[in-house]
Amino acid sequence: MPSAILEVEALTKRFGDFTAVEDLTFEVEPEEVFGFLGPNGAGKSTTIKMLCGVLAPTSGRARALGFDLFTQADSVRQEIGYMSQKFSLLEDLTVSENLAYFGQLYGLQGALLKDAIHQRVMELQLKSLVQLRVAGLSTGEKQRVALASSTLHRPRMLFLDEPTSGVDPLMRRLFWEAMDDLVKDGMTILVTTHNLGEADQCDRLAFIMAGRLMAYGKPRVLKEQMGRQVLELRTEQFRELQHATKRQPQIISSELMGRAVRVSLAKASSPAPVLESLRQQGYSFEAMAPELPSLEDLFIELVQQSRREA
Ligand SMILES: Nc1ncnc2c1ncn2[C@@H]1O[C@H](COP(=O)(O)OP(=O)(O)OP(=O)(O)O)[C@@H](O)[C@H]1O
Ligand SMILES: [Mg+2]
Repeated sequence: MPSAILEVEALTKRFGDFTAVEDLTFEVEPEEVFGFLGPNGAGKSTTIKMLCGVLAPTSGRARALGFDLFTQADSVRQEIGYMSQKFSLLEDLTVSENLAYFGQLYGLQGALLKDAIHQRVMELQLKSLVQLRVAGLSTGEKQRVALASSTLHRPRMLFLDEPTSGVDPLMRRLFWEAMDDLVKDGMTILVTTHNLGEADQCDRLAFIMAGRLMAYGKPRVLKEQMGRQVLELRTEQFRELQHATKRQPQIISSELMGRAVRVSLAKASSPAPVLESLRQQGYSFEAMAPELPSLEDLFIELVQQSRREA
């Protein structure tokens, strides 16, 4: 097992009385894509800002590449890349001017800077954009320019805060392919997303809610550990059936998916009596064999759980 490239321990951030990040502990391993998930306001950006040295933590520790991120920040700055949620491109400058500006910020000059820019421009398909002003670019184009500008110095650890929000599926794929190439080159990426399809592609995930870590691990393992069953009930009377499922105490969530009702059963309840009860109420349907819950199921479950605890 390789040792962690990033170790976060009991990280906490308070804004006055409000705790945005609470006692967060997790590790990121080298050359993985680590996904950071959670509802709006969960504390994802706040955590990333602390890890990138943009925001001072209230308490806790973090080590990256063997250095303490809070007391030895200068020693690791060159090894870290950060693409913020509101990426900080200079709107009035052209793409190539932006790349030169950010490259210089990271200490690149002369031929090194030129080569780095050329490489990123080719990899991220920016060639047709280099002479254009950033202000006129589309969201997807700006996001690619922001990725290029945060990786010119070839950091070993890259933090991407919602890099693909508002991006169409093709651009999204291009962006993830670019991330894969970076990982193949030895980079480690921590990425936040609200897109659960993207989350499924991550090596490991952390779910945070109200600043706290709720679940952590490989997507498949997290789904298996959910400890509940998901069933799809196919019927012509899907709306009526959905109402009926909501009255069943063993069913903890019930969503319409096309013409089927997708239900989740509480931990340890067996499906047969539930299905029997629905049939006795006059519904006829086909129940599909229990499948692995999706990350969406997990997300909904965790949100409900944290509401129950609140
Ligand atoms: N400077 C600040 N002062 C006070 N509260 C703040 C500050 N920055 C963030 N917060 C609060 O901390 C909480 C966490 O915010 P954060 O931006 O980290 O969430 P997030 O998980 O990134 O959400 P989103 O998915 O919407 O980007 C929010 O309730 C936010 O209002
Ligand atoms: Mg955020």
